[in-house]
Amino acid sequence: MTQQGTRHILGIESSCDETAAAVVTQEGKVLSNVVSSQVPLHARYGGVIPEIASRNHLLAVGPVVDKALSDAGVTLADVGRIAVTRGPGLAGALLVGLQHAKTLAWLHGIELVPVHHVEGHITAILLQEGGEHPHGPLAFPYVALAVSGGHTSLYLVREPGSYGLLGVTLDDAAGEAFDKVARLLGLPYPGGVHIDRQARDGNADAIAFPRPMLAGSGRPDFSFSGLKTAVRVYVDQAVAAGRTLPIPDLAASFQEAVVDVLVRKSLDAAIRHGASDVVISGGVAANRRLREKIVTGAAAAGVRAHLTRMAYCTDNAAMIAGAGRYGTPVSRSAMLRLEPFASGQLAPPAEAA
Ligand code: KG4
Ligand code: ZN
Repeated sequence: MTQQGTRHILGIESSCDETAAAVVTQEGKVLSNVVSSQVPLHARYGGVIPEIASRNHLLAVGPVVDKALSDAGVTLADVGRIAVTRGPGLAGALLVGLQHAKTLAWLHGIELVPVHHVEGHITAILLQEGGEHPHGPLAFPYVALAVSGGHTSLYLVREPGSYGLLGVTLDDAAGEAFDKVARLLGLPYPGGVHIDRQARDGNADAIAFPRPMLAGSGRPDFSFSGLKTAVRVYVDQAVAAGRTLPIPDLAASFQEAVVDVLVRKSLDAAIRHGASDVVISGGVAANRRLREKIVTGAAAAGVRAHLTRMAYCTDNAAMIAGAGRYGTPVSRSAMLRLEPFASGQLAPPAEAA
């Protein structure tokens, strides 16, 4: 960074339904982390409505950035770099955060670094106090599972800024499957956390749902739409037969199937690529059963598991500011031309080990 004084990083995130801003030091210490959620606005529709998201980002982004600065006890004069989510996400939503970041950077002569949203998720663990390390400190390379409402992918993190794609979902993201199944069960939106809660009172062995794509030694890709259909078929049959739905058992059995696949594929990928560490990140990494099972599964496989801190699992800007440490600033002329992107992987496939 080229400027004088305290050179903190201001992160801005607006890819979906959270408007977020955070201030992080160059050493990865989180000085503030503000998240303004739009969940109540979208809940009545059972999903995120892009137009409503964009409009509310417009209302929230200014105050959220101001609060992040004041919570951190700094001003823009202390900010040496602005890191902003460029994509993937909802184009209109991304545009709001990106335009705000560009305007601040341009007017105040601050560096601007565009960040891939998934890079934020898989490196949130590198923030100071960014995670739980039940098996000891994190070492490179690590395999990172990014598992959220929009993404389910496995990356090899060789070092900050150097990533290789190992596998992706071929259809629904795991969080999307959680949300759709929750809807089938009549649980509120977003459903992941409600399935997690219901599952605590249920029997995970009650219903034998499929473990999609668990067999096979090829690329560790995922598929969750068949599992979702299996739940729907079960629900339809129960309703047709006039049976009461065993919600806790359904939630626990579905959750167990998803978690089994996520854990097995992450650990297999680590072993295959010679990584002794596995990190779980993204909104679904807040799932209690996933957190338990990755720890026990890793221990049995001789791998160290690391859990992204709950506050940095669901969308936030601390992870964007943190990842912004590894990126290259855009030039002043390129800054104005910078556009959001709706989709695209963080990195090309990793070489097979
Ligand atoms: O990372 P995130 O906030 O947004 C995206 O980048 O998509 O992830 C949101 C997703 C939603 O699908 C939500 O249902 C899921 O994470 N989620 C959970 C839990 N908490 C959030 N899924 C399962 N168990 C949870 N405890
Ligand atoms: Zn996310």
